[in-house]
Amino acid sequence: MNGPRRSTVLRGRAVQAAAIALFGLTADAAFASAEDETARPKRTGRQLFIETCAACHAADGRGHSRSRLGFDVTPPDFTDPDFASREPHADWVGIARNGGPSRGFSEIMPSFRDALSMEELDAVVAYIKSLHDDDRWPPGEFNLPRPLVTGKAYLEDEVVFQAAMTDDADGRDKVTGKIVYEQRFGSLNMWEVVLPFGWNEGITNPLASSSPRWSANIGDAALAVKRNFHHDVGAGSILSGTAELILPTGDQTSGLGKGTFVFEPFLTYGQILPADFFLQAQAGLELPFQRPKAENEVFLRLALGRSINFKPWGRTWSPMVELLTAKELVSGERIVLDIVPQVQVTLNKRQHIMFNIGVRMPLNQTTGRSATGMIYLIWDWFDGAFLDGW
Ligand code: HEC
Repeated sequence: MNGPRRSTVLRGRAVQAAAIALFGLTADAAFASAEDETARPKRTGRQLFIETCAACHAADGRGHSRSRLGFDVTPPDFTDPDFASREPHADWVGIARNGGPSRGFSEIMPSFRDALSMEELDAVVAYIKSLHDDDRWPPGEFNLPRPLVTGKAYLEDEVVFQAAMTDDADGRDKVTGKIVYEQRFGSLNMWEVVLPFGWNEGITNPLASSSPRWSANIGDAALAVKRNFHHDVGAGSILSGTAELILPTGDQTSGLGKGTFVFEPFLTYGQILPADFFLQAQAGLELPFQRPKAENEVFLRLALGRSINFKPWGRTWSPMVELLTAKELVSGERIVLDIVPQVQVTLNKRQHIMFNIGVRMPLNQTTGRSATGMIYLIWDWFDGAFLDGW
């Protein structure tokens, strides 16, 4: 399918070899002349696509059918914004350059490393990105690494398994966890269910047994709807709003439940910064239905981080630090401040399974508040099954 271009490359190499043999030129000079030989008018992204990609991806970008291609994988539909909007431009350049397997996809998607220059790869990816012309869908560039606590502005199709371990005020160990399920609907919305649970080290009866008894309980489940209000690629900013309802399903005696419905509205903001730095912010209110059981609270959470690839398009490491502030709206209550250094890492080639580990440390009001070790595992289920793309 890339025959014409390939033969040009071969011809260029032959000219180069001949030049070295005949004139004793240095390799560099010979290469320069070979370049001149093959110089051709710059092809547009569309031309490149028709010449090098359309054999499989079809001229309209929807992809030829399996039966027509004779492969056991179907090329994706580049005109579908639900699919195409969420893949960052740079990731697609990486796939086109290094081939499907570099990102855990089929080897039928070839590598164009030798056939197309970086500039051409950029142009062809810009072209396939233009095939879905629906700007309402927030682009995948805004899918910034998820901090352990601060909420994200991007809309997700993912499952998060999160766990935290700490001592409670009496010095007993406590492990809490939650499963978060998130699903997009329409171009700008997402719904979410949160199922928290916990294990407490029970009070041991020194006469009965020496080993502590652990009890398992469920926490306050939550339902939420998120909507994206604004995203601007040029400015690198994204803003969303969420309405969350926390249900009193949790066990109050083990400290896992508040015993009242709580309404939690909040805004989330993401800002892409130069040099792969990013800032994420979440600000909101906790408004319990029954005031004596819990107090109104205002919170602000900030996360600053940077995404690092030690090898281009390789595993992504994202060190982050979060600053968490909260204040109960009761006179005399002081602001509570925590800091959470952490690092997120992508685990597989497809980069849709991610792990994060960090520690939440109180910066003030330290009596009765100890450090909490935190981890999560994310599965971006839209990008494939859990075991795909390793
Ligand atoms: C020989 C057939 C073939 C050619 C030629 C081809 N592709 Fe593909 N491409 C595929 C197949 C098949 C897949 C799906 C792979 C999978 O799902 O495992 C794919 C997937 C992709 C993806 C990944 C999308 C995702 O899921 O995130 C991108 C990007 C892509 N191709 C770009 C290109 C570009 C750009 C060109 C031309 C420069 C090109 N392809 C040429 C067969 C091809």
